[in-house]
Amino acid sequence: MLEEVRQLASVAVEEIEAARDDKALEALRVHHLGRKSRLRQIARQIGQRPAAQRPALGQATACAQKAIQQALDDKALALRQVAEAAALDVTLPGRRPLLGCAHPLSQLTDELIGIFQGMGFDVADGPEVEDEYHNFDALNTPADHPARDLHDTFYLEGGGLLRTHTSTVQVRVMEQTPPPVRIISLGRCYRRETVDATHHFAFHQIEGLYVDHGVSFADLKGTIEAMGRQLMGEETQVRFRPHFFPFTEPSVEYDFTCICKGQRTNCSICKGTGWIEIAGAGMVDPAVFTAVGYDPDEYTGFAFGMGLERIAMIRHGIDDVRRFLENDLRFIRQF
Ligand code: DAH
Repeated sequence: MLEEVRQLASVAVEEIEAARDDKALEALRVHHLGRKSRLRQIARQIGQRPAAQRPALGQATACAQKAIQQALDDKALALRQVAEAAALDVTLPGRRPLLGCAHPLSQLTDELIGIFQGMGFDVADGPEVEDEYHNFDALNTPADHPARDLHDTFYLEGGGLLRTHTSTVQVRVMEQTPPPVRIISLGRCYRRETVDATHHFAFHQIEGLYVDHGVSFADLKGTIEAMGRQLMGEETQVRFRPHFFPFTEPSVEYDFTCICKGQRTNCSICKGTGWIEIAGAGMVDPAVFTAVGYDPDEYTGFAFGMGLERIAMIRHGIDDVRRFLENDLRFIRQF
């Protein structure tokens, strides 16, 4: 009887492996493992066999059942894989993978990095969550200074704030690095603005800082002009107007000639003036040098800060600053 059990198992496995479809497989399952199968019959009779034979017989039938079940499972899987492969229709049109593209502000960021690396500037980074010291005090803007009121600041619970400008990175770099330094830094800034088409509570700036022996206002002008021409076109001219910033002395605001070249009296960008206000700059105030441990009698430097959104809006004809942060792919894909 032992021999018969082994025989049953090997025949069953062979038949199962040869099965052509699910239906044949199910019939084989019933035939070999069903209640009326020979194997079950033998299993039921074990109790009536002499005691000495029972263990070996019990083991053999269990083993045979396991082998048959395994063969059934394997075959079911193999049949399913064949069916799935057959269902693949290679004549169906392909699905185009979604290709990403750089956000217009990222494109501008990359371009500015390229322009300034070409002039020997390194790229520095700084935190968006700042402290009052790096955002204001070290930039010659003490707590009672009226300039602080111009920055509607997000103050954080438990101290700290969201940086209102990238000028913080000037301080952080100078604290870490002895002169000379020549860096730009780009990133996000925050102010408590009411959001509309031209204001957002989150925006982007580029900051530049160049400190060395004998850096002059002429270096500042030349650098800003070189940037203007590469950014807005070779014919771009730059105009500097006196202004005030606590951390530069003297301070200026600078304007680029408009892309309408002053030809359109109803130009929506320059309002017919021919000039677009771009950003602020100046010679680093000696008080800032003192705060970071530089000797103001030995070194001079210039700094500038510029918003990115306005530049991108002018270049691409974008009329609403909110678009930049809405994550609408239909907007982003245009650039
Ligand atoms: N941090 C100034 C702002 O956000 C911009 C600025 C002006 C930066 C003059 C400078 C600078 O580095 O020299 O309004």
